Amino acid sequence: MENKSSNKTLRKANKEKNDEFYTQLSDIEKEIRHYKEYFKDKVVLCNCDDPRVSNFFHYFSHSFENLGLKKLISTCYKNQNRDLFSQHDSEKAIYLEYTGDKNGDKIPNPEEIGIIPLNGDGDFRSKECIELLKQADIVVTNPPFSLFREYVAQLIEYDKKFIIVGNQNAITYKEIFKLIKENKLWLGYGFNRNMAHFVNKHYVDYATDNDHQEGMIRISGVVWFTNIETKKRHDDLILYKTYYGNESEYPKYDNYDAINIDKTKDIPMDYEGAMGVPITFIEKYNPDQFEIIDGIGRYSMLTGPTEETKGTYLTRINGEPKYARIIIKNKKL
Ligand SMILES: C[S@@+](CC[C@H](N)C(=O)[O-])C[C@H]1O[C@@H](n2cnc3c(N)ncnc32)[C@H](O)[C@@H]1O
Repeated sequence: MENKSSNKTLRKANKEKNDEFYTQLSDIEKEIRHYKEYFKDKVVLCNCDDPRVSNFFHYFSHSFENLGLKKLISTCYKNQNRDLFSQHDSEKAIYLEYTGDKNGDKIPNPEEIGIIPLNGDGDFRSKECIELLKQADIVVTNPPFSLFREYVAQLIEYDKKFIIVGNQNAITYKEIFKLIKENKLWLGYGFNRNMAHFVNKHYVDYATDNDHQEGMIRISGVVWFTNIETKKRHDDLILYKTYYGNESEYPKYDNYDAINIDKTKDIPMDYEGAMGVPITFIEKYNPDQFEIIDGIGRYSMLTGPTEETKGTYLTRINGEPKYARIIIKNKKL
């Protein structure tokens, strides 16, 4: 019995440890500059952000006047596992409110920042945090990876604009994929080579790459998810290959009526039917150019296993399964 519960505690601790990555200021600056005009007169909420460690609060408080913000709110989550993270060692969770520079020095001074205690632990799902969410126009943060589905569902439920960090694999989550298909969520500009460096004192980065940075963990497949319009999202992907004449390069799946494409750059310009492309296609997805029809792995990402698809593997070609594929059609043909 005791073993079971200590295993559970360990699993919880590991999950929480995996959620403790701190985004670099330079990465925040690099993304947010593309949405600059959108922030004017807006209330920004960072709701997974301990202001002592989060660069999101730092970035928005220091860019307050430059972006023309109305208000900045940052809530701090008080982890239940107190021994694990020294940064969560205060007795109470708090939130911060900043309404801009008052003394003319253009710097957020401690006396200009309101520190207000929360009754609960600052969980983004708590009633008091939801009240703060209701006040917000735009939510910007890097939420805990382990709660990503719930986190996004809440933003959608309260009809909020957002720019948030997440893992590319979240594209294949049924709930997230549906939002992408319905054009309610898309990718932002992104990190260099989709690799982000996060501050995480519990990990050592063994990378030998030039990118290696001391005291940082490098994670690949990290992207920004947003529902704010971007220019990038309307850039056509330049296609230069043809299907007709090269049919053998584009085999069909055994159990799904679409041709397979292993690299986004190989999408043919002349194929009118359904095409399966890697999930990284989403970075180049322009809804004026392509329509997303489905996503497949073992099953359809939209419907999951059904009576007909149970036991089949939808990305198989001659019996060999491929990684997850997004099924698209060219709208311009
Ligand atoms: C990936 S970290 C990112 C931290 C910060 N946003 C940043 O980018 O530097 C996710 C943060 O969410 C916090 N967190 C975990 N569960 C939470 C919850 N239920 N509600 C609010 N915050 C939570 C974690 O303590 C952690 O600090």
